[in-house]
Amino acid sequence: MYSGLAGRDVLSIADLTREDIEAVLACAAEQKLSGTSPRPLEGKSVGMIFQRPSNRTRVSFEVAIHQLGGHPIPLFSQEIQLGERESVADIGRILDRYLDGIVARVYNQSDLEGMAASAGAPVINAMTDDEHPCQVLADLLTIREHAGDEAVVTYLGDGNNVCNSWILAAAIMGFELRLVIPEGYEPRHAVLKRAEALGATETRMWPVNTALADTDIIYTDVWTSMGQEQERERRRRDFAELQVNEELLKLAPGSARVMHCLPAHRGEEITDEVIDGAQSIVFDQAENRLHVQKALLTLIYAPLVG
Ligand code: CP
Ligand code: NVA
Repeated sequence: MYSGLAGRDVLSIADLTREDIEAVLACAAEQKLSGTSPRPLEGKSVGMIFQRPSNRTRVSFEVAIHQLGGHPIPLFSQEIQLGERESVADIGRILDRYLDGIVARVYNQSDLEGMAASAGAPVINAMTDDEHPCQVLADLLTIREHAGDEAVVTYLGDGNNVCNSWILAAAIMGFELRLVIPEGYEPRHAVLKRAEALGATETRMWPVNTALADTDIIYTDVWTSMGQEQERERRRRDFAELQVNEELLKLAPGSARVMHCLPAHRGEEITDEVIDGAQSIVFDQAENRLHVQKALLTLIYAPLVG
């Protein structure tokens, strides 16, 4: 069993080395194929803080923790009231007295980092405004299954959390990532600098037709992320040319696969025909959230058992 992840936090995908990611993907593939689960969380409780809505992340983590023998405790925004009812540091300190780990979906990366600093138990990022590492781990497994590790990935849409984790993952794993992002929505300079420090060659923006011409993966995310609802009309206009529809698919090889982290705003960033069409692998992608998170938890906890 790989022990490099034992007891660690995963606050950013860049907390993981290539070796860590390879170990997670291999463990996920093995558990998925065998249909069996070890029980490294036997007798352990893991809190799951959700400051914003979730379907996939909450359910897949809850099932993962349960299948690994543990007790998941979802804690929603209205009860925990992060930073309002009490400070992030106090919440981290208190939860650490009860729990063996914390999975957290919070707005601010700094709150996640504050929680990790005040809790000795592992803390896992279940999405912040800056990153969504567990999503991209699931995406890497899905790409391995459907297109192979040499796949060229084209990301179309907003340069925010999911995109940031893609940029960092590409730097760590060394695959080609093309970004098709409208002006004004580009990823922050700090993310690009961090990717360069991890070994990425210059990350640049591509015109849609050039990027798609020989891509293997067409990846999109919502144009209006959670918390940006008041900007929806402006965003619909600014991203309109990047809708993943049947016309856009014609710019790419017929073998290209379509991915979306979900939830989909059908009729905005993706059409029904495409998401439900033959090139879509989005539902396999969603399933893989469960497998990679189980693998991640296995590698964080199993080496600590015994
Ligand atoms: N992709 C994803 O994280 O979905 P949820 O917001 O439903 O958890
Ligand atoms: N960018 C999206 C991802 C949802 C999984 C959001 O932040 O809402």
